[in-house]
This record gives sequence, C-alpha cells and structure tokens, in this order.
Amino acid sequence: MEGIKSQTPLIAVISSGKSRGSNLDAMANAFAAQGKPVWIAFVIHTLKDAPILDICRSWNIPGYHIPYRDPMYFESRVLQMINDHNVSLIALAGFLKKLSSNFCNDAKVPVLNIHPALLPAYGGTGMYGMNVHNAVWKAGEEYSGATVHLVDEHYDHGSIVASEKVYVKDCDSPQCIAARVLRIEHQLYAKAIMKHLLDC
Ligand code: GRF
Repeated sequence: MEGIKSQTPLIAVISSGKSRGSNLDAMANAFAAQGKPVWIAFVIHTLKDAPILDICRSWNIPGYHIPYRDPMYFESRVLQMINDHNVSLIALAGFLKKLSSNFCNDAKVPVLNIHPALLPAYGGTGMYGMNVHNAVWKAGEEYSGATVHLVDEHYDHGSIVASEKVYVKDCDSPQCIAARVLRIEHQLYAKAIMKHLLDC
C-alpha cells in the first residue's frame, strides 16, 4: 500500500465465480484519476482462476481466494479480513451469492452492490447477467440503467444509493442494452462509493 495517505478510506471488492472485473477496473481508473481519494485494499474472489485476477494484477491489488462452498466459513473469513485491514466499505462487483443478515450487521461498514437495471424493477432471484437485459428487451423498455444499493439478506433489495438511466429503446438486441448499461455502471459505481465515503 505504498503511497497511500493514512486517512484514505480503504475498500474491499468481492466477486464470485467467473467475474470479469470490469467494474473493478473502472473503479481503479476513477480513483486514480481523482488522486486516489479511496484505496482498493484487496479483492476477494471465490474461484482460483477468476478473470478478475488479471485486473487485480494490472493494478497491483492483492486478490484473496476464499471458496464459497461453506457460506458461513466464507462470511467469517471475509469479516476477519475486513476487521484486520480496517476496511471502511465493501463493494460487491459480480458477486452472485446471498450474504446473511448476520454478515451485513457484523460487518459494521456499508456493503454496496451494483445491479445492471433500474431497481426495484428487474431485480431479485435469477435476475443477473443477460437474464436482466433479456427481460428488459422482451418488455420493450424505453430506458434501463444501473443501480447502486446497500446490501441486505435479500437479492437486490437494500436502500438505493444511486442510479442512472440510459435510453435503450433503439437497441437492436439485449447485447446492445447490456453494453449501454455496463458503460453506465462504470461511471456510476466509483462516484457512488466516493459520495458514500467522502460525501463528494
Ligand atoms: C455487473 O454487470 C454488475 O452489475 C453485476 O455483475 C456484473 C459484474 O461485471 N452485479 P464485472 O465483473 O464488473 O465486469
């Protein structure tokens, strides 16, 4: 953590499965462009060779593998790391598992997630990845977008912290919607984290 100011808030990013890490990359870029007002202390991933590790390596962010086979073990290891590193916020990015209410309470820091739709629409069980964009496409929505919300024990359910919409009516496929929404996610998450931690 060379070059980090002592008062800089630290965050941890958690992903699961084969997460790409594009939000991590966008976050790291945004924090760097702002003079590093927030520091990504480490990334936790549940798969040993997850693609997000390439992003970790490119930014020199430590990546820790914690398997999710036993959710209670996973949560206790994460809590331990959060405490040990004095982390001020947890950012889920491509984390498709549920976290327990005990975890959310015991973390004692905000746990945020980004969802690729305008919650409360197109959220909940099964609403992840292309399932979301396929549903938006099928419904013929004029707008979709991204939502940053606090995490509780239900999928995509906690209080909304920030959201931004994007016009998708002229999209010719769900893939087009996905690409437009991802661009919004990349702008929104870092801004929402900085606002939450620094009120800027
Ligand atoms: C994003 O679409 C995010 O909204 C959702 O999972 C995806 C993660 O993508 N929660 P990436 O790994 O950040 O590229």
